[in-house]
Amino acid sequence: MNKTAKINFEKISLPNSGTIVLFTTKSNKLSDLAKELDTNNNKFITKAIKAADFKSAKSSILEIISPTITDPKSANYDRVILVGLGENKDLTKVDWRHLGGTICGHLLSKNIESATLITETEEDAELIANLGFGLTLRQYKFDKYKTSKAKDDAEKESELQKVSIQSSDASAAKKHFTSNLSPIQHGVFAARDLVNEPANILGPNEYAKRIKALSSLGLEIKILSDKELKAEKMHALLGVGEGSRQGSYLAIMQWKGGPKSEKPVAIVGKGVTFDTGGISIKGAGGMEDMKGDMGGSATVVGLMQTLAKRKAKVNAIGVVGLVENMPDGQATRPGDILTSKSGQTIEVINTDAEGRLVLADALWYTQEKFSPKYMINLATLTGAIMVALGKEYAGLFSNDDELADMLVASGKDTGEQVWRMPLGEIGSSYDKLINSTFADMKNTGGRWGGAITAAQFLQRYVNETPWAHIDIAGVAMASNKSPISQSWGSGYGVDLLNNWISENFEK
Ligand code: BES
Ligand code: MN
Ligand code: ZN
Repeated sequence: MNKTAKINFEKISLPNSGTIVLFTTKSNKLSDLAKELDTNNNKFITKAIKAADFKSAKSSILEIISPTITDPKSANYDRVILVGLGENKDLTKVDWRHLGGTICGHLLSKNIESATLITETEEDAELIANLGFGLTLRQYKFDKYKTSKAKDDAEKESELQKVSIQSSDASAAKKHFTSNLSPIQHGVFAARDLVNEPANILGPNEYAKRIKALSSLGLEIKILSDKELKAEKMHALLGVGEGSRQGSYLAIMQWKGGPKSEKPVAIVGKGVTFDTGGISIKGAGGMEDMKGDMGGSATVVGLMQTLAKRKAKVNAIGVVGLVENMPDGQATRPGDILTSKSGQTIEVINTDAEGRLVLADALWYTQEKFSPKYMINLATLTGAIMVALGKEYAGLFSNDDELADMLVASGKDTGEQVWRMPLGEIGSSYDKLINSTFADMKNTGGRWGGAITAAQFLQRYVNETPWAHIDIAGVAMASNKSPISQSWGSGYGVDLLNNWISENFEK
């Protein structure tokens, strides 16, 4: 478990020692308290700003070490850190998180163990809470496989122990942090941990066990293993795990926080714990990244924990298909034909297009069993989505404009952005690309529009349900570092979908 600094929310009052962080705005306007401190102490802040030519650009930092304090009331500070807010116009939730993350990065790099942040703005308490949220997200580390010697050599970092955030409405900030943001952080860290875990530890067997243990949070968990999957006729999913020594599973997590009569929302995730490509084996270069091919499932598992932790007033189903895509004498071959749970047959052209096979059965099962009002799946599904969108946006495909709009809005609100991609109707020219000579469909669609033909494939396993597919291959792992995440596994999507749920189903 990650250790993060204790965050305290306090009323504004200058402490007499340690490290303090003050915020400045463009044209270097100091807050009232900072101004007083400055005037009483020979203008040490104004002088430092001038000497360093500090412009207070958003997230810029000026550190004044051991300032000479002449006013006895101001006591002694190790450091006074100025943080720019830029124009300080309409700073968003995401801006405040990034400020928190940036400040945290600075404190960590200087081995500072505690600090007091003084926010004298008239900001909404929720925005101030997001400063603490960003600080916490930044502290995530995955170093459980570094022995203490390696850790000492590599980092020599003392841990940040305590951060006090002062603001005008500290109790409201604290309340929002504790009841809404901490549960998200818990879910994001859980997802990051799962993605970062190597595949020799987190294979399908261990993954199923870890999910089972989540019943302690009040989630109802059901795990289907090979025998039950056969009984359910999920031969598309089973076909992928055929070459592995480990079992294949479908894990179902239920959170019942809404009225009994209310239809649930369902979130489905691809959980390929390692993707060698199977018989259509991948090249060696970068194959280690395929331990993260369960990123979609990690988001689902993280999200369900967030919902449980904050006791969300919603009925939600999380379903993940857990398989390992390996080549052996039992493995599915190119040319093999699998019969999915839906009854539709699939000619496997490329065993490396395995995610859609897992999802085909998981989606069909979820829809049949739970008739969700909305169904969303997440998957590290195609390299092609990275060719299209790079690593900034996830690709969004949907058969429902309203659902797509809700997700785009949640993406903007949380900073976990999605970009809508085209999806043709069944029978359209995009759709026809996956017709097969020998079966109802094939599992690849040729060279062009690879992310789209993958989505077309999934759509054939969705009926009337408003549904969205989010291709997170570019954002779930080996993702861009940001002020709030330095982790390889990003935990992308927990915040996005939690926001989608709280904004649309809990009001
Ligand atoms: N898991 C991969 C997609 C992927 C690639 C995710 C790189 C993250 C980083 C997926 O199973 C896959 O191999 N897709 C193939 C599909 C192709 C064979 C039609 C791909 O994208 O090349
Ligand atoms: Mn693959
Ligand atoms: Zn894959």
